[in-house]
Amino acid sequence: NGANLAPTPPMGFNNWARYTCNLNEALFVATADRLVSSGLAANGYRTITVDDCWMTGSRDAAGNLVTNSSRFPHGMKWLADYVHGKGLQFGIYEDAGTSTCVGLPASWGHEQADANLFASFGVDYVKLDGCNVPPEPGKTQEQTYHDVYAKWSQALANTGRRMVFSESAPAYFYIGVSDKRDWYKVLEWTPQYGQLWREGDDMGLAEYSAATQWSTIVRNYDYNLPLARFAGPNAWNDPDFLIPGSGITPDEARSQMSLWSMMAAPLILSTDVTALGAAELAIVGNPDVVAVDQDPLGAQGTLVSRNGNTDILARQLANGDRAVALFNRGGSSATISTTTATVGLPGGTGCTYAVKDLWTGQSSSGTTISATVPAHGTAMFRVTPGATCAGAQPTGQITVTS
Ligand code: GLA
Repeated sequence: NGANLAPTPPMGFNNWARYTCNLNEALFVATADRLVSSGLAANGYRTITVDDCWMTGSRDAAGNLVTNSSRFPHGMKWLADYVHGKGLQFGIYEDAGTSTCVGLPASWGHEQADANLFASFGVDYVKLDGCNVPPEPGKTQEQTYHDVYAKWSQALANTGRRMVFSESAPAYFYIGVSDKRDWYKVLEWTPQYGQLWREGDDMGLAEYSAATQWSTIVRNYDYNLPLARFAGPNAWNDPDFLIPGSGITPDEARSQMSLWSMMAAPLILSTDVTALGAAELAIVGNPDVVAVDQDPLGAQGTLVSRNGNTDILARQLANGDRAVALFNRGGSSATISTTTATVGLPGGTGCTYAVKDLWTGQSSSGTTISATVPAHGTAMFRVTPGATCAGAQPTGQITVTS
């Protein structure tokens, strides 16, 4: 039942970073319509998730969660049907603790009832947050989270409906915690229960300054980069939302899209999709970059080298190509160069590589991968070995200590 629910990283929309609790049915209807009419759905952005604040402040007499009918006048089943009618998938938020992060009823002690309710709505994807998980006698918090996420995984399976399970547990062992040992323990078990997991802090909200939004992109990239060993088909590290169109520059949006795709991250837009212009649609909808994110091998890219403000990343792809990204986090432009051998492509006599710049679309051939990268920018390439090239070697993973 849980088999092969997310062979490639989930893609879609979630309201949180852009709208927080200012959500309603009309927003999701308009977003579903626009995902389809813009072509983003055809590009893979197909799961629409309603985050926190969809429910009322108390359960009903039978103990069920109650949809806030002033926000969702036709109810969640109607909205799920609408989303399905557009060829999209429907996701919903709950929390494993006693109340959600904004203080609404959460699922502690109601796991099976809530899973059943979501199945009855027609939910395809559950984001289970981890605020307010109560301490239990005789257990570490790490064990308590383990038990409740395992319980939810079983509850979802018991419904008989296929629902992707997005776990937020690891985030609660990173944020504000100096000893990261429990974080790694949690990351060891999350893949047994769900298909993706939030490993760190929230992306900056749209209401924050553009500089803050950018700093959260860089921070979450740094969290997520050393976690490649946990990733693979049906198992994705989630560094949180894509936030183009809320203040960051086009170079910054291209960086986030490049870095997230190199890391095989879920691509979940949290922005006003109806207001994305042609330039932003071309960034998040770039089919060559999305193809790297969605590569069926599912190998998360790793750091090849870091030199001051510049990082070189490489990612193995299923057909033997390599994706390479040159990231400049600094405040002025920088020329960044590497070679095919350095990113794990050994060459050999007569071997030539086709090097395609995935943002400019230009192709060249040779063994050098180089670009002048603007401040906060990323150049991204797909490198294809010619017929006579020797087999590619895996690139080593350099662990970034933070
Ligand atoms: C946490 C999560 C966010 C969002 C809010 C909702 O902060 O990390 O993604 O779901 O809760 O309250």
